[in-house]
Amino acid sequence: MGHRRGVGGGVVAGLFVLLLPVLFPTLFAPFSHASPSIFSEYNTPRTRHSRLIKSAVQRQTSDKQQSELWSPLPNQGWKPCIESTSTSEILPENTLGYLQVFLDGGLNQQRMGICDAVAVAKILNATLVIPYLEVNPVWKDSSSFMDIFDVDHFIDALKGDISIVKELPEDFSWSTREYYATAIRATRIKTAPVHASANWYLDSVVPVLESYGIAAIAPFSHRLDFDNMPKDIQHLRCKVNFQALRFVSHIRSLGDALVSRLRYAPGQNEAIDSKFLRGIADAKENKAAGKFVVLHLRFDKDMAAHSACDFGGGKAEKLALAKYRQVIWQGRVLNSQFTDEELRNQGRCPLTPEEIGLLLAAMGFDNNTRLYLASHKVYGGEARISTLRELFPLMEDKKSLASGEERANIKGKASLLAAVDYYVGMQSDIFVSASPGNMHNAMVGHRTYLNMKTIRPNMALLGQLFLNKSISWTDFQDAVMEGHKNRQGQLKTRKPGQSIYTYPAPDCMCYS
Ligand SMILES: *[C@@H]1O[C@H](CO)[C@@H](O)[C@H](O)[C@H]1NC(C)=O
Ligand SMILES: *[C@@H]1O[C@H](CO)[C@@H](O)[C@H](O)[C@H]1NC(C)=O
Ligand SMILES: *[C@@H]1O[C@H](CO)[C@@H](O)[C@H](O)[C@H]1NC(C)=O
Repeated sequence: MGHRRGVGGGVVAGLFVLLLPVLFPTLFAPFSHASPSIFSEYNTPRTRHSRLIKSAVQRQTSDKQQSELWSPLPNQGWKPCIESTSTSEILPENTLGYLQVFLDGGLNQQRMGICDAVAVAKILNATLVIPYLEVNPVWKDSSSFMDIFDVDHFIDALKGDISIVKELPEDFSWSTREYYATAIRATRIKTAPVHASANWYLDSVVPVLESYGIAAIAPFSHRLDFDNMPKDIQHLRCKVNFQALRFVSHIRSLGDALVSRLRYAPGQNEAIDSKFLRGIADAKENKAAGKFVVLHLRFDKDMAAHSACDFGGGKAEKLALAKYRQVIWQGRVLNSQFTDEELRNQGRCPLTPEEIGLLLAAMGFDNNTRLYLASHKVYGGEARISTLRELFPLMEDKKSLASGEERANIKGKASLLAAVDYYVGMQSDIFVSASPGNMHNAMVGHRTYLNMKTIRPNMALLGQLFLNKSISWTDFQDAVMEGHKNRQGQLKTRKPGQSIYTYPAPDCMCYS
């Protein structure tokens, strides 16, 4: 609509904007209708735990506490172990045909789908076509596999395991997403059950491959069992996840730049307390490398609405979230059957930026902590983050660390932004997530595999502590410390039904 503001023309432009709706009421009808709710919805987030915040801002931490917090995890006896145990390294001469998969979800859900697709191709002796990434209705990013992952590395890393093609040969070029979207097709398998067994694929997909030379599976997310799989298949899934999937080079170089700016903040080192210089001396720069935490904060409107929790934004926010639930899920949200107090007691509410700040402060992170904020959009914007920033003034994100020019390739692309955050998250000394979602699980798994520190917030404990409006800082801190002693990366082995990508031991790790 372009109401351009000339130099010094703010007042005039302001008047212009105010007058336009009067002059063209119909043109602006949607805007004037939407504006009151936007303003009231976004204005209100305020501190909910102001007593705790007041103490947290004045917190003191001891050097001993600091060194414990930042020290790497001790060796827990587990190490990666995914060497192939199969007797022959030779691929079957003739594959049964081509396997296509269409993957829903955000980047981290698609990542699991890619690993499972390789495993299914192996089970079927099929040639895998580079998976197709669907555009997610929330994230709206149309980036393809090749836009995100280094496809040549992927093919090369798996060349001893399965054969992979970037594109179907001419004879099969009809087998596209559009082809399957427009009618029922004999080569599409749409009935794969959730957590299907290897035998299900052999029984149901082999005949299709034999008849047509191709099979397209959609939906495919979560369609391969985590249990009762041959060891080789489990190893292969981990090999894909932890070795074959590498981001494209522009993502890695931007990630490296961000990491280096976090570790060697220019001009910061002299200005701030020497406690920041906790790291080892870096030979190249002859300067101590600072350590940093990555905080994954998924707190968008979608998630806030879906949780059905009350986030302190008052009546306007409550109404806005209820309306969103109605529009997107027609009100069918399990959590909305419970009161806010019940949800918090059960640990079913994502932590707000303020609450995750209090958790980190209580665990002993001081105000010189370098915090990298990995997040997409924060519902409520800067107003919602300001309390967290008060506790951690050295908070950074992609925008504060990299220029617009450096970010041009990833701008507005949710999957590429998430890829950068994943990459930076994997380099961090400590990773913590404010809600247990796909990104959190992917990080927990990958960092477990490499024995790196990851804080898993005890959601139920925190929910209960935050319900106590009279709790003292000391009691809060003691309870948080006690409740997170064993939630900082201590390895947990996978239980039946759990994801191999979240718990890679014992399937993909050996105990020595
Ligand atoms: C896949 O190939 C292996 C080795 O060549 C063979 O033993 C197995 O039966 C094949 N599986 C299928 C489903 O064709
Ligand atoms: C951290 O807190 C101390 C004392 O409360 C203050 O002097 C210092 O400036 C703070 N550091 C930062 C980076 O804000
Ligand atoms: C709430 O906190 C206060 C002060 O820290 C404590 O004495 C009290 O036992 C707590 N109440 C509950 C229900 O935990």
